[in-house]
Amino acid sequence: MARDGHKSGINTRLAHMGNDPGDFFGFVNPPVVHASTVLFPDAATMASRKQKYTYGTRGTPTTDALAKAMDELEGSAGTIVVPSGLAAVCVPLLAFLSAGDHALIVDSVYHPTRRFADTMLKRLGVEVEYYDPLVGAEIARLIKPNTKVVFTESPGSNTFEMQDIPAIAKAAREGGAVVMMDNTWATPLFFRPLDHGVDISIHAATKYPAGHSDILLGTVSANEACFEKLYDTFLTLGTCAGPDDVYQVLRGLRTMGVRLARHQESALQIARWLEAQEGVAQVLHPALESHPGHAIWKRDFSGASGIFSFVLDGGGEREAHAFLDALDIFGLGYSWGGFESLAVHVFLGDRTVARDAYAGPVIRLQIGLEDVEDLKRDIEKGLRAALPG
Ligand SMILES: Cc1ncc(COP(=O)(O)O)c(C=O)c1O
Repeated sequence: MARDGHKSGINTRLAHMGNDPGDFFGFVNPPVVHASTVLFPDAATMASRKQKYTYGTRGTPTTDALAKAMDELEGSAGTIVVPSGLAAVCVPLLAFLSAGDHALIVDSVYHPTRRFADTMLKRLGVEVEYYDPLVGAEIARLIKPNTKVVFTESPGSNTFEMQDIPAIAKAAREGGAVVMMDNTWATPLFFRPLDHGVDISIHAATKYPAGHSDILLGTVSANEACFEKLYDTFLTLGTCAGPDDVYQVLRGLRTMGVRLARHQESALQIARWLEAQEGVAQVLHPALESHPGHAIWKRDFSGASGIFSFVLDGGGEREAHAFLDALDIFGLGYSWGGFESLAVHVFLGDRTVARDAYAGPVIRLQIGLEDVEDLKRDIEKGLRAALPG
């Protein structure tokens, strides 16, 4: 907010949010504080623990700068910064679930979230149930007296189903459950979960916030009602992130708006073009009018990032591998949100509810910052290689 009360645009805010250069002798960026020990001036201050910083695991000026920026972006009361996106999924689940509780998790969830739920959470005595991403307000029927968490991710990992987050959040809250959302795909620039009834917004900051395929980091942003418990669990587990990585993500945020605009535009151009290509049965991108969840995307989201999938028109693993092996610019790799394009043949064998019958193998594309015409040419080579015969 400028001094005259005017609310600046998102890129202006991204350029300045988080730290105040005045706190650090005018240097534009905050220091990268490497810290375990923090000294106290006297025994009384030490005993009271009232000093702003008390120990490295509990926060530093570097982590505070990123947490403050995320709070501004998400509209949250507090943010914890953890060593990976997966940690950002696991810490809030551990904070709000106990033995005997029931957790509802969307079936099109990021696979390692499912592995954590099916192993650790079950071992700790939590009842885990997966729900259809298209369930909407009908989720009320699945909520039981012991349902403590509803875990959403929209669009879904790999298959990009859009969930009706406001309807799910309303029903979940009425049932007394905490609503969590993995918001990595949209980033807070294109969707702000807390404005739609979600309590806790999760990010693999590894992706667009970091933006350069060289950092692992997670953030978890909570509303007033949930932050204390989340922060307490974070301290209990000691899952603090390293200062260099935190700094790099804050650095990445400065350019995230301009990068995302480019990712969005290039991905949409390629998605639209793909719809008309021979050998393509379907394109799974929520910003396309043909996507079954397009109306929800249009109602709730203000943009789309650069990752989506398409379905080959028939074939199996051989055709999927032929497509991937013919690519030169696209790398074969799992993460996304970086500057470079990537492709992967997605695994859907873990799904128990969202078992859509696709016409062929599902290929996920992360569209990077390269020139669109070069990327199209690369994809054309892949499609030719995957054609039967
Ligand atoms: C939707 C989603 N959430 C969380 C993660 C985990 O992030 P990280 O790789 O930082 O553990 C990923 C990684 O691919 C992801 O796609």
